[in-house]
Amino acid sequence: MSPHCGHNDRMSNWIEALGLKAPIWQAPMAGSQHHKLAAAVSKAGGLGALPAAMLTPDLLAQHMAAVRAQTERPFQVNFFCHQPTTPTPDALSDWAQTLRPYYRELGLEGTAVPQAPGRTPFGPELAEVLEQAPPSVVSFHFGLPDQALLERVKAMGSKVVSSATTVPEALWLEARGVDAIVAQGLEAGGHRGMFLSDELSSQQGLMTLLPQVVAAVKVPVIAAGGIATPAGVRAARALGASGVQVGTVFLLTPEATTSEVHRAALRQAQGHQTALTRLFSGRPARGLMNRLMLELGPMHESAPPFPWATAGLAPLRSAAEAQDLGDFSPLWAGQHVAAAREIGAAELTSELARAWHSMGA
Ligand SMILES: Cc1cc2nc3c(=O)[nH]c(=O)nc-3n(C[C@H](O)[C@H](O)[C@H](O)COP(=O)(O)O)c2cc1C
Repeated sequence: MSPHCGHNDRMSNWIEALGLKAPIWQAPMAGSQHHKLAAAVSKAGGLGALPAAMLTPDLLAQHMAAVRAQTERPFQVNFFCHQPTTPTPDALSDWAQTLRPYYRELGLEGTAVPQAPGRTPFGPELAEVLEQAPPSVVSFHFGLPDQALLERVKAMGSKVVSSATTVPEALWLEARGVDAIVAQGLEAGGHRGMFLSDELSSQQGLMTLLPQVVAAVKVPVIAAGGIATPAGVRAARALGASGVQVGTVFLLTPEATTSEVHRAALRQAQGHQTALTRLFSGRPARGLMNRLMLELGPMHESAPPFPWATAGLAPLRSAAEAQDLGDFSPLWAGQHVAAAREIGAAELTSELARAWHSMGA
């Protein structure tokens, strides 16, 4: 038993029962990893994650089977649960007009600007896949699915987790019966999980968010956002976290599927070079500044609502990536990006796990 379990009384229950070496959770990162990273982290004694925001039910089943072929240890499956929207034709044609000059520049003038939702929310078909072999943990970003779907997940026996970016969001999640809350600080890479407010200027850094969420709720709180080093793990634990969820620092591991342009940008990156942008999906997410963000401004209003901005960029992204340019790619990264290293996922997990147990040593 750790001498510091006083910090983590609420961990004594189900998180401990997962049998991890330490509560080091790899953050689900749609588009940048799949079963390989999830399995490597779980094998090393952390909690690997399989992001399903861009998977069809068939692919989800395949990826879950692939994790299980590599390890019997627990893992997390993650979904987005936004309310589907259909933008007006005007909103979509505004976006197409904004992108047209870039299509011309890249020799794509004859190509129609695609219009489609870029991500699918959790729904009954995906729930059916989970039911066949439920994972230990099912997590959500952007709130929770509707009551009936949520009950279905709970009935499978999976623990339910979701992200909060404010104390009111944490209380909302707790009132609906989540088993743990990921407190996502403003430093975090990827999409802000915010769902009760879209007021970005009042979003909090982890240093203030974490202790206030811990004080407000009874369920375990997992800290996310900028945790990339042993000292960061210890700091999160000192502030009352029952575990940490770590994303950006896994992006340069060989097990991640991070694209070459993304890897090249990450290798050079400094913490002051990330920004929140809605250009790549329609919702704010943190990534490295690139040409599109610099030229349009990261929050440009003509990007249609989530998740409709993604499709129009796809032809530009492919054409630019073919020339090794990340000008139109989402280069998601958190503010501690400079700590990302080319290191094996198992080694990184073990390093962070040792830090969890070394607090105060
Ligand atoms: C490349 C990337 C993709 C992400 N995709 C997802 C996702 O699919 N689902 C999710 O819940 N969070 C996603 N996130 C956010 C993470 O869950 C987490 O909040 C974040 O990585 C923690 O901050 P850090 O990146 O500074 O470690 C993503 C983050 C990154 C960096």
